Amino acid sequence: MRTGENLPDPWHFSRPELAKAYLQAFDLKLSAARGLFARRRMGKTEFLRRDLMPEAVTKGYLTAYTNLWDNRTSPETALVTALTEALEPKGAAAFLSKLRTPVKKVKASAKLAGSVEGSLEAELGKPGVDRTAALHEVLKQIDRAKKPLLLVIDEAQVLAGADHSDFAHALRAALDIRKERVKVIFAGSSETTLRAMFARASEPFYNWAPLEPFPLLGDEFVAFTVELLNSMARKKLTLEQGRHAFDELHRTPEFFKRFIERYMLYQPQGEAAALAYTKASVFSDEHSLAQWREMKPADRAILYLLARGESDLHSSATLERLGTMLGKTATRNTTGHALRRLLAATVITRLAMGDYRIEDEAFADWIRKRPEPAPDA
Ligand SMILES: Nc1ncnc2c1ncn2[C@@H]1O[C@H](COP(=O)(O)OP(=O)(O)OP(=O)(O)O)[C@@H](O)[C@H]1O
Ligand SMILES: [Mg+2]
Repeated sequence: MRTGENLPDPWHFSRPELAKAYLQAFDLKLSAARGLFARRRMGKTEFLRRDLMPEAVTKGYLTAYTNLWDNRTSPETALVTALTEALEPKGAAAFLSKLRTPVKKVKASAKLAGSVEGSLEAELGKPGVDRTAALHEVLKQIDRAKKPLLLVIDEAQVLAGADHSDFAHALRAALDIRKERVKVIFAGSSETTLRAMFARASEPFYNWAPLEPFPLLGDEFVAFTVELLNSMARKKLTLEQGRHAFDELHRTPEFFKRFIERYMLYQPQGEAAALAYTKASVFSDEHSLAQWREMKPADRAILYLLARGESDLHSSATLERLGTMLGKTATRNTTGHALRRLLAATVITRLAMGDYRIEDEAFADWIRKRPEPAPDA
């Protein structure tokens, strides 16, 4: 269990109707899996963990959550570990003994403690361990539990990587035969990669889950947050001001919350100052700079052009501009390689043939404010 996830958060805007709608769709048995995507920091994870999973628990489901981005070198381990956490202690003990982890580590009466989880990850991570066999084993234990399971796979695009293809095939096969009782939600921020996972006939997840945009937070979320703020603030924020700030922050819940926090702490300075401060900090933060510095010059140059709405990246005029930025001749290969790297790192997403967009709107904004890259910069 990640710490903090289970504590009540007064600032959480809950969406019970949306959670119920997802579960009802499963009840109708139209599909046993769904895929959802939305840009970064739009509230996918918070919804899945704080709304959907608790609702599933009240409906009698076992729940398992895994964020594959946190464990992208071994999504296999992350998935099996998450499934183990969904088990009752007895089932977990049986599973661990199969893995030859000393059973004495698991007290049959205790819930799986953090240390056991850690040792399980270590055990599964060992070279030579058959993680596919471990998957089958943990699912067998889940079969015994006689409850349906909701499996949430966050940042699922990691599984699309070629290295994980065998495991992904095994996962699909194992879950396909359990459709009746195991429901899966895939989530991710890269629509392109998720689409590739579900739409390409050669991929293990082909046609498995319908993919749809995650409904974004909007006016109701703003109203809720402003009202809560006003119950504590001496200087009230108007709904109008709240909406304006939300728009200015690209309707990104995370940034809006930072604005609210700043406003609360520095009330005498007022709304405009809080917004200016938030924009400066989110659109120019150190994280962006660190990310920028780690990139190859060609990748930076391509991002610079994309951030400015340059669409024809392969035209000779663009290649010439790239050449100036890089201080050496740029070819179609330069562009092609950079795009491939940026796609693989999910910095950009491909909306259509030749149509790319920077995933993180805040990062795009930050790039727009930078000077044009130069050979020695
Ligand atoms: N329902 C909500 N109520 C209140 N705040 C929210 C809500 N959803 C998201 N937020 C705020 O936005 C932040 C980002 O949300 P979250 O991590 O769920 O986004 P995400 O879409 O999963 O992003 P990423 O793609 O980067 O993982 C949260 O930490 C929280 O501050
Ligand atoms: Mg997330």
